[in-house]
Amino acid sequence: MNDLIETLKAAGQDALAAHLETLSGDARANLERDIASQDWMELKQLHAEKSTADLSKNVAGELRPMPWKIAEDDLRYDFWKETGEVVLGKGQVAAFLVAGGQGSRLGFEGPKGMFDIGLPSHKSLFQLQAERIKNLGAQVGHPIPWCIMTSPLNHKATVNFFEENAFFGMDRDDIRFFEQGTICALDPNGKAVLESEDHLALVPDGNGGCFRALAQSGTLAWLVEKGIRYLFLYSVDNALCRICDPAFIGALAADGHAISASKVVHKAGPQERVGIFAFQDGKPGVVEYSDLPDNFRDMTNADGSLTFDGGNIAVHLFKIEGLRKLQTSRLPWHTARKKVCGIENCWKFEQFLFDAFPLLGSMLPFGVVREEEFSPVKNAEGVDSPKTARVMIGKLHREWLEKAHVEVNPHKLYEISPSLSYAGEGLTRRLFERELGRGILEFDE
Ligand code: UTP
Repeated sequence: MNDLIETLKAAGQDALAAHLETLSGDARANLERDIASQDWMELKQLHAEKSTADLSKNVAGELRPMPWKIAEDDLRYDFWKETGEVVLGKGQVAAFLVAGGQGSRLGFEGPKGMFDIGLPSHKSLFQLQAERIKNLGAQVGHPIPWCIMTSPLNHKATVNFFEENAFFGMDRDDIRFFEQGTICALDPNGKAVLESEDHLALVPDGNGGCFRALAQSGTLAWLVEKGIRYLFLYSVDNALCRICDPAFIGALAADGHAISASKVVHKAGPQERVGIFAFQDGKPGVVEYSDLPDNFRDMTNADGSLTFDGGNIAVHLFKIEGLRKLQTSRLPWHTARKKVCGIENCWKFEQFLFDAFPLLGSMLPFGVVREEEFSPVKNAEGVDSPKTARVMIGKLHREWLEKAHVEVNPHKLYEISPSLSYAGEGLTRRLFERELGRGILEFDE
């Protein structure tokens, strides 16, 4: 107990220490628990570093674009796909969903994965993902374990939702939920912000907290015990994510050098708010859109295409040895100055998972077609919204049917259940006739 007070005082948090001393009973126990969850010396150091740093200069040193190609155009694509299926069939791949975000732009109360994007089936994002994972597992002959990272703010709601829906037909033992860490917001003078008398203003520590949480929750050990060698990491809100894509897995498995692989799309334009893959001082990584200087953002090649064109869609694959390395690495902290609990200009800190790439050293960019694999649901309306995701799914699934020589109404959109087809395979006219109105639904824009 005294240790906590000592720690707070050593870290310059005397006011918090004094406040704690005024509490007793449950209130004291609550605040002690919050205080014990934080690394106060790190917070002190962070505040000191960030208050003197020039935060406008996040990109320093030499910047070069990372060359990449659309993987489907590569002659090795079919080989990669078959290799990936073998690796999946041996049970060496798990899916890792980072779902600890607050989804504030969407404005939906509750975990984003529970959100219904308005497809005719009204399936939630979680259900669409579960069915896709289950179908692929059945095709390769081995169930795919699914790790789901939540935050203390949405953990209960997430687990309850899965329980209420009987884990969407997946085996409960193949799903592992765990919470990411939190970090205390600081006021402009570096003092801890209280959310209430007995709670600190704790916020999730960013999706980069996933590596620490993976190890600390025992999930990494669980994966190692299961014989997992590749972890497929993705965001909760990409409605088109091809989870555990066999070709992607096969490409990394066939590469003797890279420790991770990342999916890349052509940037929609210089203004699109996605990070880009680049080498910074020779190290591979991602530069966030807000950190990319305007002259680099707008730079074009002789043919008019963007020079920094490789957009990050937050779909990554890690070899397990890379994750082991990351559990002891310190990712940089990013800062935002925001109003917290009524106090203007507070410090909020978070880590970004793409900062892992320069630490790992070598990565494989794997180009994919945006219309087939990337439809983020970020905003309630306009770009990257439920409506854009619905339309993209509807068009893609209509295209799958057309490729299978099924006569469809060209003015309609289609939703194909991920339980029927993982990525367009196995569709026939007979299946269409049987499933129309059930597993295949027609809808308007
Ligand atoms: P975003 O950067 O889109 O953040 O997350 P967000 O919190 O979901 O949404 P906004 O910015 O508040 O509108 C990208 C992915 O990273 C996860 C999210 O759940 C999403 O899958 N994430 C984000 C975490 O897992 N933890 C975090 O602390 C932040």
